[in-house]
This record gives sequence, C-alpha cells and structure tokens, in this order.
Amino acid sequence: HELAPNVPFEDIGWLLLNGDLPTPEQSESLRARLAAEHALPDRVLEALRLFPADAAPNDVLRTGVSMLGAFDPDLNDHSHAANLEKSLRLVARVSTLVTSGWRIARGAAPVTPDGRMTHSARFLYCLTGRQPENWQAHAMDVVFALYAEHDFNASTFAARVTASTMADIYAAITSALGTLKGPLHGGANEQAMAMLRQIPDPDAGEVWIKERLARKEKVMGFGHRVYKSGDSRVPVMRALARDLGRRTGHEMWAEVCERLEEVMRREKGLIANVDLYAAPVLQMLGIPWQLNTPVFACSRVAGWCAHVIEQHDHNRLI
Ligand code: COA
Repeated sequence: HELAPNVPFEDIGWLLLNGDLPTPEQSESLRARLAAEHALPDRVLEALRLFPADAAPNDVLRTGVSMLGAFDPDLNDHSHAANLEKSLRLVARVSTLVTSGWRIARGAAPVTPDGRMTHSARFLYCLTGRQPENWQAHAMDVVFALYAEHDFNASTFAARVTASTMADIYAAITSALGTLKGPLHGGANEQAMAMLRQIPDPDAGEVWIKERLARKEKVMGFGHRVYKSGDSRVPVMRALARDLGRRTGHEMWAEVCERLEEVMRREKGLIANVDLYAAPVLQMLGIPWQLNTPVFACSRVAGWCAHVIEQHDHNRLI
C-alpha cells in the first residue's frame, strides 16, 4: 500500500533484486540500464516473425525467453553478480518480447523507444507506437508494482524448482512462464476480461454470476489459495480502476466489478483477487486483453529473478 501508488517500477525491481529501495542516483542508473538492455538480439526478433499470427502471446513470450538464454554470454555463470546482470536483461527484454511480438503478429514494425523513458512508459510506447500520457505511465507503474512479487505462488515455485537443479535463470523463467499460462494462475486476468465483456451493467452482473454459480462454474478473478478474507492488492487496483474509469469515461467497469464482489461475498463467501480489477484497468490503458497475462509476466519477472538468485545463492535441490 505504501509502494504501489508511489514508487516507479524500476525502484520496485531494485528493491526486489537488492533488498533496499535505491537512492535517486541508483534509480536513475537502473532506468538507463534497462533502456540500454531493451533491444532484442536480431535473431530473436527474426524468430518472432516465424510464429503464426494467432499464436498465444504467452507462448511466444515463453519461447522468446528460452531463446534469449542462448544469446546471453553469462548463461552458465550462476554467481550472484552474473545472475543480477541477467536479471536486468530479462526484466528489460521480457517487455520487448511482449510488445514487439504483438506488433509483429499484426504486421506492424517494432518501434525504437527514446532512451529516457521510464520502463512503464516504454512498455506502452512500444506497444502502441504513441507517447503515453503521464497518468497512463503512472497507472502502468502501479499495475507493475502490484504484480511484481507475490511470495511462493505457482509460477515462482516452478522457477525455484528449476533453479534448484542449478539450471540457468532463463530455464527457470521459462518454467515460470509455462506455469503462468493456466487460468487458475496468471491466465485468470484474461478470463476475467472475457467475463466482463459479457456484462453490460451491475444488474446484469448479478444475474450472470448467479447463473454461473448455479452451474457450479468458477468465476475468474475470485478466490485465492492464501488470501481468504481479502487480497491485499485489491484496494489499490480497485482505486485505480475507478480513477481510470473517470478519466476514460468507462466508470461502468469498476461498478460492475464492485457488484460482482458483493454477490460473490454474499453467495459464496469468496473474495475478489487482483485479477478482477486488473482486467478493466488494462483495458482502459488500451492494452489488448490477449496481453493481460504477458503484462503480469513483464512485472513478475523481477520477483521470479529475485527468487532464482536467492535459490542459487543458497541452493538445496527441491
Ligand atoms: N468461482 C467459483 N467458486 C469458487 C472459486 C471461483 N473463482 N474459487 C473457489 N471456488 C469454490 C470452489 O469450487 C470450492 O467450492 P466447494 O467447496 O463447493 O467445492 C470452494 O470455493 C473452495 O475452493 P478451493 O478450490 O478449495 O479453493 P483453492 O484455494 O483451492 O483455489 C483458486 C484457489 C485461486 C485456484 C480458485 O479460487 C480459483 O480457481 N479461482 C479462479 C481463478 C483465479 O482467479 N485465479 C487467480 C488467483 S490470484
């Protein structure tokens, strides 16, 4: 609650990888470093052109990360220093794989960003080709902050198991991406958007959800393995959904989500998780719903890398 609305993603990344928030100079140097590492090797960019246009962006990303490993000169050096270097490359390039992969699949050329942009602004610019407004870049920072790290969830566990064999960090992140795809984990934010697109207003939402529960079907964006009385990320994401709703004239999304929350709590005692409100937030930022899970990865890669470093530094086979 202290960090997400206030701290840029670069600083969150630094905190995760180094254990403390950066000084302003360190923050500036990390920003420059991520900008410098942003470009993909030419042959990885060429490989993105080989995918069928309708390939799932998450699959393209997973293959892209695996391929990037082969181009990293420090691939098999698992020292703390080398892993930190590789983490910076990964944080920078996972975003590029997502934005360039998306543009290439739609017949558009990847764009080259201005080196002074923040990581979040660069993500939006490289996706849309347009300079984002400050409030859009800020909202992206908040989303990235909320997704950056979340303890021992499924994808992080997969990354740590792979790292614990002393496989390299790219192998570990590839494992994490495989796990992230499923709708019970990262894929939930895509499914939540598919649900919201069918619901025009709060009353329709109440009907929709009751029908779904009567058929004993799961409702994406609800429930959590750990949080049982409330997902600590939801208040910040909910406030962001309301704010973006006011700015973009789409207040209805947050109102629908709030009604869904009410009904699920009443009918099933289930709480909303962060993916419920992330879905309209990303929509209002102009991010295609097919990228909801890859957006999660663009941020969580920082947390995964921090876990892999910890695993390699104090390894015991899991
Ligand atoms: N919609 C409807 N019912 C749900 C539900 C949901 N999203 N999540 C859990 N339930 C129900 C289960 O069917 C079960 O009901 P039952 O007791 O009548 O059989 C009960 O709530 C307990 O669920 P359980 O499967 O034990 O919870 P879990 O801790 O194993 O599951 C999740 C956690 C996240 C896998 C689960 O809540 C889920 O699938 N959520 C939807 C996917 C999602 O949003 N994932 C993102 C998580 S951040």
